[in-house]
Amino acid sequence: MRETWAAVDQYLVDLLVPPDPVLDMALQDSHAAGLPAHNVSPPQGKFLQILAKIQGARRILEIGTLGGYSTIWLARALPADGRLITLEAEADHADMARANIARAGLSSIVEVRLGKAIDTLPQLAAENAGPFDFIFIDADKPSNPDYFTWALRLSRPGSLIVIDNVIRNGEVIDVTSSSPSIYGIRRLNEMLAAELRVSATTIQTVGSKGYDGFTIARVR
Ligand code: SAH
Ligand code: DHB
Ligand code: MG
Repeated sequence: MRETWAAVDQYLVDLLVPPDPVLDMALQDSHAAGLPAHNVSPPQGKFLQILAKIQGARRILEIGTLGGYSTIWLARALPADGRLITLEAEADHADMARANIARAGLSSIVEVRLGKAIDTLPQLAAENAGPFDFIFIDADKPSNPDYFTWALRLSRPGSLIVIDNVIRNGEVIDVTSSSPSIYGIRRLNEMLAAELRVSATTIQTVGSKGYDGFTIARVR
């Protein structure tokens, strides 16, 4: 089935996601520099952008930058006076992202903040950088429960919190899994189930990135 998912993604890209030199080069340069291909797919990037637009987002927080591919999709949803802060632990990823964001002409509205997110999130809170209208969680999966807790703190009623890679080929239902990532995702789901401050759901996805999914949580 994986080949079919990828072929259908290509069909959708051909119709709905026109070639874009800035986004295409961001992926090419990231790949050439040996960064992992953990970016969202083009249809997923556009999906995130449309969500941010629907949200009318003026301030966006991203946790997990990589080469800035999803960052560019999201930042392009912002008005001219909008702001996006993206958190990245690896210096070479942050450097690649800054170059890609500069080529996109987005350097004045995007800040790439280097450091482990568990350290930079409290900094943002101390600086009163929030509240953010849209928060995309896409970094190390074992930390998802911590990131969700910080996302709530940095949100306002009506904020949207989106979390990537929450299905992981269906492994999410493997109660015997010893994977810290799966544990992090399952723990996050338990938090969502008990958290009265959000209304959440998860959509499973297939495509060029395999079988995975997004959670969206709206702050009440
Ligand atoms: N959002 C990107 C993909 C992010 S991949 C896109 O779709 O284009 C996950 C990124 O999270 C990697 O670059 C990885 O270095 C970063 N990361 C991993 N652990 C982290 C941590 N503790 N704090 C911040 N970033 C982290
Ligand atoms: C991984 C991380 C991601 O954010 C992603 O979209 C795909 C894979 C990973 O760590 O394996
Ligand atoms: Mg991801």
